[in-house]
Amino acid sequence: MTSTSRAQFSSKFGFIMAAAGSAVGLGNIWGFPTQAASNGGAVFLFVYIAMVCLLAFPMLVAELTIGRYGQSDPIGSIKAIWPKGKKGAVLLGLAAMLTASFILSFYAIVAGWLVGAFAGSAFEIVGLQKTAEWVNSFGLTRNLLLMVIFMLTTMHVVKNGVHDGIERWSTRLMPVLFLLFFVLIIYIFTQNGAMQGLEMYLVPNFAHFSPELFVSAMGQAFFSLSLGCGTIMVYGSYLSKDINIPKTAAQVAAIDTVVAIGAGLLILPAMFVAKEHGVQIFSEAGELLSSDTLVFTVLPAMFDTMGETGLVVSLIFFLLMVIAALTSSISMLEVPVASAIEAFKCKRTTAVLSIGGLITLIAAIIVFNFGALFGLVIKVTTVYGQPILGLFLALLVGWVWNRNKLLEEIKQGYPELETSLFWKIWPVYVRVVCPIFMLLVFFA
Ligand code: TRP
Repeated sequence: MTSTSRAQFSSKFGFIMAAAGSAVGLGNIWGFPTQAASNGGAVFLFVYIAMVCLLAFPMLVAELTIGRYGQSDPIGSIKAIWPKGKKGAVLLGLAAMLTASFILSFYAIVAGWLVGAFAGSAFEIVGLQKTAEWVNSFGLTRNLLLMVIFMLTTMHVVKNGVHDGIERWSTRLMPVLFLLFFVLIIYIFTQNGAMQGLEMYLVPNFAHFSPELFVSAMGQAFFSLSLGCGTIMVYGSYLSKDINIPKTAAQVAAIDTVVAIGAGLLILPAMFVAKEHGVQIFSEAGELLSSDTLVFTVLPAMFDTMGETGLVVSLIFFLLMVIAALTSSISMLEVPVASAIEAFKCKRTTAVLSIGGLITLIAAIIVFNFGALFGLVIKVTTVYGQPILGLFLALLVGWVWNRNKLLEEIKQGYPELETSLFWKIWPVYVRVVCPIFMLLVFFA
């Protein structure tokens, strides 16, 4: 693709929904509440919000700007700002691409569980109790089947390209998701036990303060905003030049954070409501039981409290969750696909089929070795991979990229940039504060 024929998001709203669609996903609904519940609730919440403002938002601006300047896949965009000897650029781009692919491989497994919860409600509604149970209980065949269904759906959307696939889905469905979330939060507060959850979520218990907490919160913030892996760069490359990047990035970060906080407002109270109904959430010692599957225990218990209506609400809820996961997974698959199209000049369909197939295979290997690989892949990619890649990108934008070019790029959508407070703070910030922060958190 040349830069003139390069696909673009058709409106600012479309872009925000697509970027928010990428950002809002399992990280918000599954990752954030689980982490908050296991890391002292409020303490995690506060550190997380600080990480989003101090680290993730500046990096979001940096990655969007690299992408829009480069007008290419992540490898091409990094090359565009790389000084000389482009090998390093290719290496960094490849590392980002690999990380995105491995993230997708575990993401598809968890998203498959959501597909299972959705299908389970549907089977229950039509009276297929046994099938519903099967599709909801952890098992090899079930995990494999659901993951493959989710991967095929992701591949289908990405095959349709930026405008007809990614943007169209995101714009229509994200608003519905926000609305349903809101209604459910109000509902959960009418239930017994909810206040206990709210207390855990909002009253800090400083006994949980630890260096690991910072590492987890940083990893979570990077994951939730889809940073470090080229996703945001690719989306930036489809962004039109008249868009104000800092403002748009702030909007995307705000939407993502509000949804994460909202998910916490739903899941933590729902944990205690479930406990009231006899579901075991904590061990004798007060530790969370099976945190990976927490939301898959807690949410169905919540829907059970609604009687018959609960089945329908559960059906709609899990459908929207699947969609939230899908608008994220498509953004991950888009990274290697865009690179393959650029590098091999192949058709989109070919790229989607071969790369999607390979990622499905990796996910299958994880499913077969779940105990050994699942947590490991998550840890390597999200706790280490993303922040380390983020560190390199910050150094690149802060130290290597020509400052005037950087200014010009952002200025196109933000004419008063030079006199803004943003421009007084952000460049120095990305140059010095972000890298130091990331290093400190790592070596703490
Ligand atoms: N941010 C998404 C979520 O919270 C996941 C995601 C999409 C992602 N694209 C990514 C994570 C790229 C890391 C890298 O669920």
